[in-house]
Amino acid sequence: MAKILGKSSSQIISIFMLIILMMISKSTSAPNFLANTCSNNSQYHTNLNTLFRYLTTNATNPTGFHQAVSSNGNTTNEAVYGNFLCRGDQNISTCHDCVTTATTTDLPTTYCPNRKDAIIWYDECLVRYSNQSFFGTMNTKPSWIYWSANNITGNTTRFMELMSNVMNNVIAVRAATTGGSSWQKKFATDFVNYTSFQTIYGFGQCC
Ligand SMILES: *[C@@H]1O[C@H](CO)[C@@H](O)[C@H](O)[C@H]1NC(C)=O
Ligand SMILES: *[C@@H]1O[C@H](CO)[C@@H](O)[C@H](O)[C@H]1NC(C)=O
Ligand SMILES: *[C@@H]1O[C@H](CO)[C@@H](O)[C@H](O)[C@H]1NC(C)=O
Ligand SMILES: *[C@@H]1O[C@H](CO)[C@@H](O)[C@H](O)[C@H]1NC(C)=O
Ligand SMILES: *[C@@H]1O[C@H](CO)[C@@H](O)[C@H](O)[C@H]1NC(C)=O
Ligand SMILES: *[C@@H]1O[C@H](CO)[C@@H](O)[C@H](O)[C@H]1NC(C)=O
Ligand SMILES: *[C@@H]1O[C@H](CO)[C@@H](O)[C@H](O)[C@H]1NC(C)=O
Ligand SMILES: *[C@@H]1O[C@H](CO)[C@@H](O)[C@H](O)[C@H]1NC(C)=O
Repeated sequence: MAKILGKSSSQIISIFMLIILMMISKSTSAPNFLANTCSNNSQYHTNLNTLFRYLTTNATNPTGFHQAVSSNGNTTNEAVYGNFLCRGDQNISTCHDCVTTATTTDLPTTYCPNRKDAIIWYDECLVRYSNQSFFGTMNTKPSWIYWSANNITGNTTRFMELMSNVMNNVIAVRAATTGGSSWQKKFATDFVNYTSFQTIYGFGQCC
């Protein structure tokens, strides 16, 4: 009796630990949602689902980037254009988790059901699709801006000067010019000392 009891309680403990492990691994792989924007319409679901599949299956690309068209062979008829971009410092599995979350639940169900175009932003990636091609063109809209609630302490003028140097003069140029090969990420980081104990970090990335 005691033996049976001992065995089953150890099984309960292992099952319990397994559940805890599953909960831990689930919570670490979930991307951290930031914001989304979508515009309306229905139809072209087949093409959109195909596009989502293209994006998800390409989400292990070492570049953390892929663009695809799903058109049933006819780009004049309900074609869907889409891409994803994972943040340059994210690994392949985080990138894949993020794109999969966007294409399997967040875009089609949670945030943008029946929409003709949408962009969703996370800390880890962004995913975008549209019925109009946006490849190779610069769009400043839709955009999304996010900032910290914390204020600059100390010399604000100096902070803004240094931040501007980091972001504009260094990162923008390097992000655009590095990654000449298709397998390289166009991702650049930089930092500068603000005070002897505070550092300003920045990064920039292009598709
Ligand atoms: C958005 O799409 C839904 C479902 O297709 C429709 O009921 C609604 O009228 C649309 N809204 C606009 C602003 O077009
Ligand atoms: C990646 O996307 C392309 C279309 O852009 C598609 O043909 C291909 O099947 C997708 N999956 C993989 C693993 O390449
Ligand atoms: C593509 O779709 C358009 C619009 O529906 C149609 O007029 C055209 O005939 C189609 N082309 C082919 C090759 O199927
Ligand atoms: C990828 O990054 C995530 C988050 O930083 C980390 O939890 C995970 O262990 C990493 N996976 C690999 C294979 O390096
Ligand atoms: C994309 O969809 C919008 C909204 O339905 C429509 O106004 C626009 O003409 C469509 N563009 C193309 C290229 O089909
Ligand atoms: C930042 O500064 C603003 C305006 O001076 C103030 O309203 C706000 O409470 C400050 N935030 C923090 C986190 O101190
Ligand atoms: C703040 O920084 C600016 C630019 O570096 C500098 O010109 C100014 O003297 C500094 N102000 C103070 C009070 O240190
Ligand atoms: C920035 O500060 C760190 C730590 O105080 C120091 O080791 C480093 O040399 C500084 N870098 C520059 C460019 O001043």
